[in-house]
Amino acid sequence: MKNIVLTGFMGTGKTEVGRILSRKLGYVLVDADTEIEKEQGITITEIFKQYGEPKFREIESNVIKRLSEIKNAVISTGGGAVLRQENMDNLRKNGVIICLTASPETILKRTSNNNDRPLLQVDNPLQKIKELLEFRKPYYEKADIMIDTEGKSPIEVAEEIIEKTGIKKD
Ligand code: S3P
Repeated sequence: MKNIVLTGFMGTGKTEVGRILSRKLGYVLVDADTEIEKEQGITITEIFKQYGEPKFREIESNVIKRLSEIKNAVISTGGGAVLRQENMDNLRKNGVIICLTASPETILKRTSNNNDRPLLQVDNPLQKIKELLEFRKPYYEKADIMIDTEGKSPIEVAEEIIEKTGIKKD
């Protein structure tokens, strides 16, 4: 069976939905951001602070290339992973690409309880979310399946992914 790759903006529920999916399907769960932090030995926030976003994107692409080789996995990616075609190509080799979506207001609500997202540490995070979403829209739309998470629990979203991909639970 193909890997399930979760893409989508920060706060669309990739991590939580990934956890549920991996449990339901008996797939291994890998999270690109967690792998980046493990590999670098520092947090994403520190990577942005010390090296800047372009270097982070390089590291992210290398990690995604490695994770794309895994089989029977749910791969959860960071919100900006879609920006590089190379990442999409690698992830698609063994996987079906899902994109989770939510409104800017919901994203703000889901991301405002912690400060571990360097791109949203600005005076007006809602405005920033709207700008980033607008810019990234065509990239997110490259996914094979789009799933609106608005008003749905992570369990409902996971069930919808299983239904739409036709992947069997056993
Ligand atoms: C980013 C999303 C983050 C993380 C980094 C950059 C982005 O991941 O990779 O802060 O560019 O949207 P999550 O989507 O898991 O928060």
